[in-house]
Amino acid sequence: MTNESDESSGNGFALLLTGLSGAGKSSIARHLVEYLQQEAKRRVTLLDGDEVRKHLCAGLGFSREDRMTNVRRLAYVASEVVKHEGIAVCAIIAPYAQSRIAMREMVQRYGRFYEVYVNTPIDVCESRDVKGLYAKARSGEIQLFTGITDPYEAPVQPDLEIDASVGSPLASAHQIVDFLAHISKGRQLFSRR
Ligand SMILES: Nc1ncnc2c1ncn2[C@@H]1O[C@H](COP(=O)(O)OP(=O)(O)O)[C@@H](O)[C@H]1O
Ligand SMILES: [Mg+2]
Repeated sequence: MTNESDESSGNGFALLLTGLSGAGKSSIARHLVEYLQQEAKRRVTLLDGDEVRKHLCAGLGFSREDRMTNVRRLAYVASEVVKHEGIAVCAIIAPYAQSRIAMREMVQRYGRFYEVYVNTPIDVCESRDVKGLYAKARSGEIQLFTGITDPYEAPVQPDLEIDASVGSPLASAHQIVDFLAHISKGRQLFSRR
């Protein structure tokens, strides 16, 4: 690891897709990564919360402290990707504002950071119940479930907010692409230099 200040103007960036379980983070991220891999002339890394919990964050639970550690480790990997001018797409609940701020600071040492709030109402997430977790949270089979028995601090000023209760994951991914295209006007967002 180096600490050269001129790296802060690097060309990499990280996107954080934050939101409730079942909001659509992973589905949107997969489409987005596929698009960026084709269009952007640089490496794209998908860091998905569920996946990360299997290895990098294996053993961590769902207390506030463990959730903060989970996000901090993922943020570190994202910052390394950005340091090397890659694109990191991070799909993780990240329920605490404090850890999202810390992630932003970590990534911004090397490049840009965008917080995308996948804002899907909890009743929609619960009716989807993709992994059957809401039912388990309601019955008490699992505790500390975000939105039911554990907090979700909704982003106050996200860079982009998406309502993923309407449309398709692909359409939601397109909203992010449009956002990236918009903010990159005059800058080399998709190309290496
Ligand atoms: N507009 C949309 N955006 C994202 N997901 C959607 C949308 N509409 C329906 N879905 C569905 O919602 C579910 C979201 O699950 P998932 O992506 O695993 O959420 P998360 O990763 O946030 O827990 C998927 O089955 C997806 O197909
Ligand atoms: Mg997911």
